[in-house]
Amino acid sequence: MVFRWFTCIAGLGLAFVGLSLKAQDRPQTLGTHMMIADPASLSDARAEAVYQSIKDTLRRQYMKSGDPVAAAFQTWRRPNREPYRSGVHGQRFINHYANDLAEDYGDFKLGKPFPEGAIIVKDSFAVTESGGVMSGPMFLIEKKENGFNPSSKDWLFMMIKPSGEVVGITNGVGASKVRFCAECHSQAPDGQDQLYFMPDSVRRNN
Ligand code: HEC
Repeated sequence: MVFRWFTCIAGLGLAFVGLSLKAQDRPQTLGTHMMIADPASLSDARAEAVYQSIKDTLRRQYMKSGDPVAAAFQTWRRPNREPYRSGVHGQRFINHYANDLAEDYGDFKLGKPFPEGAIIVKDSFAVTESGGVMSGPMFLIEKKENGFNPSSKDWLFMMIKPSGEVVGITNGVGASKVRFCAECHSQAPDGQDQLYFMPDSVRRNN
């Protein structure tokens, strides 16, 4: 019953796809129907507790895409201490995860381009003014072979909605829908291989 209700809401969410970027990006209610008290004063510790209680649900939602990374990324290293709000990814709470080939990302080492196969993923959720917790998209970047896409320094960008729908992949299905990702990332400071990293205040080794 609950599952049917959730599927219905997910269907409604999909009906908005294509109207505008904002609608397409609309977060969907989590299957847990989670509500939290006093959302305006959500501390870092509480944001982490919310995340710990929903991260399996997020993973299962992204896994509906069939992408193998969706099943694996939460076992990778997470360089941020708690989820934090990202102004550029829709004001959602996000976490960063880096695979072994992207270990320099977790160590915040700059100056050297990342090797082919390096993958960095962000999962995300939103908290509404009334305290509803909503799942958000998964953002992925992967370093591909030399020449894959010179303007993005061979990074592939991908976004997966909580419904499991793949919004777009660089040089693949829906490529035009993730072009804005690469455009913004190409503005990252020199010497950072088009990555932005994260604010010092949320880094685990601080
Ligand atoms: C307007 C600029 C902008 C756009 C558009 C954007 N990003 Fe980002 N991205 C950032 C910034 C800034 C960070 C650093 C962390 C943060 O504040 O979210 C970041 C971080 C990331 C990271 C972690 C690696 C890193 O750079 O540190 C991934 C993965 C990512 N973005 C994927 C995406 C994907 C996929 C899209 C498109 C669906 C996208 N981004 C669109 C600015 C942008």
